[in-house]
Amino acid sequence: IHNVIFNSSTEGSLTVAREIADLIKDKQKSNANCILGLATGSSPIKVYEELIRIHKEESLSFANVITFNLDEYYPMDKNNIQSYYYFMHEHLFNHVDILPENINIPNGSVSSEDLYEYCIDYEMKIKALGGLDFELLGIGRTGHIGFNEPGSHFNSGTRNITLDHITRVDAAPAFLGIDNVPRKAITMGVGTVRSAKRIVLLGWGISKANILKKTIEGEITSHVPATYLQEHNNTTFVLDKGASTELT
Ligand code: F6R
Repeated sequence: IHNVIFNSSTEGSLTVAREIADLIKDKQKSNANCILGLATGSSPIKVYEELIRIHKEESLSFANVITFNLDEYYPMDKNNIQSYYYFMHEHLFNHVDILPENINIPNGSVSSEDLYEYCIDYEMKIKALGGLDFELLGIGRTGHIGFNEPGSHFNSGTRNITLDHITRVDAAPAFLGIDNVPRKAITMGVGTVRSAKRIVLLGWGISKANILKKTIEGEITSHVPATYLQEHNNTTFVLDKGASTELT
């Protein structure tokens, strides 16, 4: 892994947004699609804000962009304001010219009988397009990437998982209490993420400092799934000062 430490999360976010915008433009030159893996949560919000600004002020088009979100709660109705479907439309998709049919977000309301096949199809759809050109990640306090909680296999694919208690505690404010936080989710696997040609993980603030030390400097272990990124050849951790305080 390669780390870059910025003075602020804003500076880091602008740099990452610029990399994504440049990739989209590069692909346009060769008439190719740009396949992006996207995250929700607080970490990528400023990256999406900046991409919207670049779309509006520098007329960057998203017409060649195909997106795959990492995860969605299960069960979850897409119209629910806590859904990642809602989040992505609110923070990015409603403000750019991406084609609706090019947006892929795990469907939190697929029936339990269809779930297994749904997850395989999600995985196959990414593969059929030639894989993810770029994967944007945040990191949870459990060391999860996507919702790959401790115990996840390094070759795992898209699947239904049980959320860690710590992850549910962290989500409780958004759901007005832990009892309302779903116990499960659909997530791309560690293997899905690792197959991306380029990975950027965002880490902001002191609350992420401890898990980032384990992730970057610790041994590779399923107890901290993000440590699997140590073996990826094109991953950058973009951190602010707070998030980097425990690194040696
Ligand atoms: C969200 C996701 C999660 C978050 C992580 C950090 O799609 O995949 O892994 O990136 O839980 O969340 P924030 O950014 O809210 O601290």
